[in-house]
Amino acid sequence: MIPGKRRAAVMSFSVAIFGALMLQSVSSQNEPSIAASEHATLPVEGDVLTLQCNLTTHHDIHKESYWMKNGELIPDTRNENKNTEYRLNKPRGDDAGVYMCVYTFDLAPSANATIEVKSAPEIIGHKRSENKNEGQTAILYCKSVGYPHPVWTWRKFENGVFREIDNSTGRFFISSRDNYTELHILNLDISLDPGEYHCNATNIIGSRDEKIVLRVRSHLAPLWPLLGVLAEIIILVIIIVVYEKRKKPEDLQDDDDPAGPVKTNSTNNHKDKNLRQRNTN
Ligand SMILES: *[C@@H]1O[C@H](CO)[C@@H](O)[C@H](O)[C@H]1NC(C)=O
Ligand SMILES: *[C@@H]1O[C@H](CO)[C@@H](O)[C@H](O)[C@H]1NC(C)=O
Ligand SMILES: *[C@@H]1O[C@H](CO)[C@@H](O)[C@H](O)[C@H]1NC(C)=O
Ligand SMILES: *[C@@H]1O[C@H](CO)[C@@H](O)[C@H](O)[C@H]1NC(C)=O
Ligand SMILES: *[C@@H]1O[C@H](CO)[C@@H](O)[C@H](O)[C@H]1NC(C)=O
Repeated sequence: MIPGKRRAAVMSFSVAIFGALMLQSVSSQNEPSIAASEHATLPVEGDVLTLQCNLTTHHDIHKESYWMKNGELIPDTRNENKNTEYRLNKPRGDDAGVYMCVYTFDLAPSANATIEVKSAPEIIGHKRSENKNEGQTAILYCKSVGYPHPVWTWRKFENGVFREIDNSTGRFFISSRDNYTELHILNLDISLDPGEYHCNATNIIGSRDEKIVLRVRSHLAPLWPLLGVLAEIIILVIIIVVYEKRKKPEDLQDDDDPAGPVKTNSTNNHKDKNLRQRNTN
């Protein structure tokens, strides 16, 4: 390359870079800027957490602003002020999440700012107990609120200590997504599986734990009521047969008694018999 041409190329290259820098600085001056509240962690001091956004620089006149939580519009938050706030009264676990204020403009794309409200997970629902027959599948679950979404683990409480779930039989399956976890135990084993299972939800703020009791009944369990009835019938039959056998000889004796005995005698006889029987008993 000839030195002159090279210099020209370098010159035009630097002009292009300078131009690009200029353009960028002009457009960033026009870029709306939003002053937003700091991220927060629950619980907060006092009863109210106020999230604020102030639109500070923009040439356009903005149309309106609104608030979103976890990507969804919060109803009744549209307004036309440059400064907007969203109040959380007595915020709890389910108020945690990603909040966003959005400003819309007539002549420019919308602008937004994000405020994260974090909290330890809270387990808001879980299966308290599961009763199944051996060979069936048990499904235990827990669900949570709180942000960030927790990491879920399952453990078993046995002989006073927590143990990792022993999956050597390959029958345990865990599926967790965000605020929900499920533990499936296939082909239930009556000697290994019954007990106290715990789901544990842990995020950077804290952790929670809930207990689920699994009971496993024998295959025969559904037959027990039937067996009970059968046993009753058999016992009744035995009682009747025995009673009849003991009664028969007396009946024969009674038949041998002379007909039409004197009434007082007869009653005395009966009394005697009763006495005799009691004595033999
Ligand atoms: C927004 O503006 C109000 C009023 O000027 C001020 O009190 C508040 O601190 C500002 N909030 C933020 C997050 O800058
Ligand atoms: C928020 O702003 C970013 C760019 O800063 C944009 O990609 C995103 O779509 C905006 N979100 C909403 C909900 O307006
Ligand atoms: C759990 O998370 C899903 C999305 O990840 C959401 O739609 C649902 O409302 C959440 N449930 C609770 C109780 O927070
Ligand atoms: C248990 O073992 C089975 C079979 O090896 C496997 O597919 C499953 O993912 C395991 N479950 C857990 C919770 O590790
Ligand atoms: C949940 O599991 C974590 C990690 O093993 C443990 O540090 C934490 O104490 C457990 N949480 C509860 C409430 O037991």
